Amino acid sequence: MPLPLPKAELHLHIEGTLEPELAFALADRNGVTLPYRDTEELRRAYLFDDLQSFLDLYYGLMTVLRTADDFAELTDAYLARAAAQGVRHAEIFFDPQAHTARGVPLGTVVEGLGRALDAAPGRYGISTRLIMCFLRDLPAESAMETLRAAEPYLDRITGIGLDSAEVGHPPAKFKEVYEAAAALGLRRVAHAGEEGPASYIREALDVLGVERIDHGLRCLEDGELVDRLVRERMPLTLCPLSNVRLRAVDTLEEHPLPRMMAAGLLCTVNSDDPAYFGGYVGDTFHAVREALGLGPEELRELARNSFEASFLDDDEERRAE
Ligand code: HPA
Ligand code: ZN
Repeated sequence: MPLPLPKAELHLHIEGTLEPELAFALADRNGVTLPYRDTEELRRAYLFDDLQSFLDLYYGLMTVLRTADDFAELTDAYLARAAAQGVRHAEIFFDPQAHTARGVPLGTVVEGLGRALDAAPGRYGISTRLIMCFLRDLPAESAMETLRAAEPYLDRITGIGLDSAEVGHPPAKFKEVYEAAAALGLRRVAHAGEEGPASYIREALDVLGVERIDHGLRCLEDGELVDRLVRERMPLTLCPLSNVRLRAVDTLEEHPLPRMMAAGLLCTVNSDDPAYFGGYVGDTFHAVREALGLGPEELRELARNSFEASFLDDDEERRAE
């Protein structure tokens, strides 16, 4: 078998790497009762109609994550899988509010994630960055409180993002939080144009000052926006398997990735929530190659883009590639 293409993963929710087997093991360890008999019954529930139906299950299942050890084990399992699929660098999202709201302190989450990330270069040859996402369906005040609570841990946190239910929660709602984060020297990204309209992508650029757009699929509905994204070499972190499972596109064969690359957009391919959407990033590369007929040069372009769009410094980028 050829060695997997070296690549960076830029759109990965660590909570979305919680495989059913680990979920049941942690439930046992922490005395949490899951509303599923076994891993098969849980897997059978992974039939989503849209983003919200996924989020409901996703936030429910993450209640098994309680201790720093749990977060370390989760993260180490992701890194092992990612390394086997050619990932050399990973910029990892986590959702502080989804844990603090359940009584798990932010310090516990960061300690667990950090323990696994510290070991990643030696154990797996992977460099990492951590990106803290705000839940956009909660009030902006809650995001601001979370940012303030994260100040003691900013040596470990590279940037901020915005995730959860998109429609009805436009980027501008978080203007002040993004300004405060920028003042703290944090990098800025946001989910936009996954289910929400192209105007949310414009807003993320103009109001939040983001450096990458997570998903960005719906930019295609606005030709002028596409021209701007091309001109500005604004990276899009696309997640084709997620788009199929959450019904943003009907089938993988119909995914607009080839059209987006041909238009000159800076596309990257990522796994989003691999435990739920049918594959890690190497599986995703394989799936788009098969379904969309991408050739070796296009796959290399996607891998190159992933390093260019990363928050690695130029010298680190060269070493990772
Ligand atoms: N979109 C929004 N929020 C999320 C996602 C996603 O794809 N995955 C995990 N949280
Ligand atoms: Zn996502």
